[in-house]
Amino acid sequence: MKRIGFSKSQRHGRIPASTVAMAVALAGMCLLVATGCLAGDPKGADSVTLKDAFKNDFLVGAAINRAQIYEEDSNNDPIIKTQFNSISPENVLKWEAVHPEPDKFDFAAADTYVKFGEANHMAIIGHTLVWHSQTPAWVFEDANGKSVDRETLLNRMSNHIFTVMGRYKGRLKGWDVVNEAVADDGTLRKSRWMRIIGEDFLVKAYEFAHAADPGAELYYNDFGLENPEKRAGALALIKNLQSHGVKISGVGLQGHYGLEEPDLKQVDETISAFAALGVKVAITELDINVLPSPMRSLSADVAQRFAARAALNPYTNGLPDSVQRELADRYAGLFSVFLKHHGEISRVTFWGVSDGDSWLNDWPIRGRTSYPLLFDRKHEPKPAFRAVIESATQSRSAAASAENKEFVEKSAAPKN
Ligand code: G3I
Repeated sequence: MKRIGFSKSQRHGRIPASTVAMAVALAGMCLLVATGCLAGDPKGADSVTLKDAFKNDFLVGAAINRAQIYEEDSNNDPIIKTQFNSISPENVLKWEAVHPEPDKFDFAAADTYVKFGEANHMAIIGHTLVWHSQTPAWVFEDANGKSVDRETLLNRMSNHIFTVMGRYKGRLKGWDVVNEAVADDGTLRKSRWMRIIGEDFLVKAYEFAHAADPGAELYYNDFGLENPEKRAGALALIKNLQSHGVKISGVGLQGHYGLEEPDLKQVDETISAFAALGVKVAITELDINVLPSPMRSLSADVAQRFAARAALNPYTNGLPDSVQRELADRYAGLFSVFLKHHGEISRVTFWGVSDGDSWLNDWPIRGRTSYPLLFDRKHEPKPAFRAVIESATQSRSAAASAENKEFVEKSAAPKN
C-alpha cells in the first residue's frame, strides 16, 4: 500500500532538523488535501471517490440490477461509473435468468452486463453458478418430475458451467462458483445438489469452472461465516477442495451485517482464518440492516419470510440522526478491519447502489423502508459514505505519522 512518507534513500543520509520539520509540515498538508479538509474545498470528503480512496488497498464494487445494466437508471448510473471499479450482477447471471429451460439460454441481460463492465473498465464478477436457490426445478427433475440421478445432474451442471462461463472466457475477473453450500451448524446444506450428487458436487463444480475459464478467479461465497460453527464448515470445505488439488482462489464473505452483529473481532478473526488457508478474501455483498429483525440469528437466507408489522418498519419517514450516526460508525469500524487486512482482501462489493433499490426493502419482510447502503433514496452520499472515505484517509494518516516518527527518530539517532 502506498503511504505518504519518505523514500528509503531519504532515510539514509543525515538531514538538518529544519528540513525534517518542513517535510513533516508538507506531509501534513498533503494529508489535508487528500482528505478534502482544506477550507477551499466545500465538498470535503464527497470529492474523493470510493474507488480512489481504496485504490491501493482493494477493488470497491457494487451489485447492479437490470435497469442499471441497461443504463435506464439515470440517478444511479453516475454513482456506479464514478464510485466503483468492480461490478457484480445482482440477478442476471443466476441460473433461472440465463438458463430457464433445458435447451434455452437467455444471455441478453448478461451480455449487456459484461459490455457495461468492459466499457467502464471495471473488474467484472460472475454470480453465481451452483446454488440451491433461483435454480429452476427442471434442473433436478426428469420429465415426470422425479429426481434425476447423479450422472444426469453432473452433466447438467457441467453443461451449464461450460456454456455460461465459456461464453465470457477471459473477460470476467472472477466467479462465485458455488453459493451458500454450508448450513448454520457447519454441515453441508442438504440441497438437491448435495442429495443427488453427493459431497463431491463441490469438487466437480470447481473442476468444471477451472476447465471452462482457466484464468478466472474462483470463489466460494456464503453469508454468516463470522459464526464460528458455520465458519468451521466453510474452512473445511475449502481445505477439502485444496486437498483434491482443485483451484479455489478465495472465499466471499457476503457481509449482510447488522448494526451490532457480527462484532468487529469476529469479522477480523474470520478474515484471518480464511487468509491462513492461502486464499483471497472478498467482501462480496456488503450492506448493513438498521431495521429490527424478526429473526434471532443474522441470516441472508432468501427463503426466510415474515409478515409485516408496523413495529418492524419504524423509519418510514426517514432515518433518525442517531441511527444515521450509528450506521456511519458501524461502516467506519468495518472498513478499519478491512484496511487492516488490505493485503488479504481483493475486493469489497456493496450489494446495491442506493437505499431505494436494496433487496433489504423486501427481505425478510416485504415493503419496508431500509437504509443499508452509502447512498440515500435521493442518491446523495450519506454520513456513512463520508465515514468510509475517512477511514481510508485516517489509515493513511496513521501510517504516515508512524513513518514520519520513525524517520525523525532515525535522523536524530547518533550515527556509528
Ligand atoms: O423480476 C421479477 C419481476 O418481474 C416480478 O414482478 C417480481 C415480483 O416479485 O419479482 C422480480 O424478481 C425478483 C428479483 O429479485 C428481481 O427483483 C424476485 O422475486 C426476487 O426473489 C429476487 O430477489 C433477489 C434474491 O437474491 C433472490 O435471487 C434479490 O434481488 C437479490 O438481491 C438477492 O441476492 C442474494 C444473492 O444472490 C446471494 N446472497 C444473498 C443475496 C440477498 O438475498
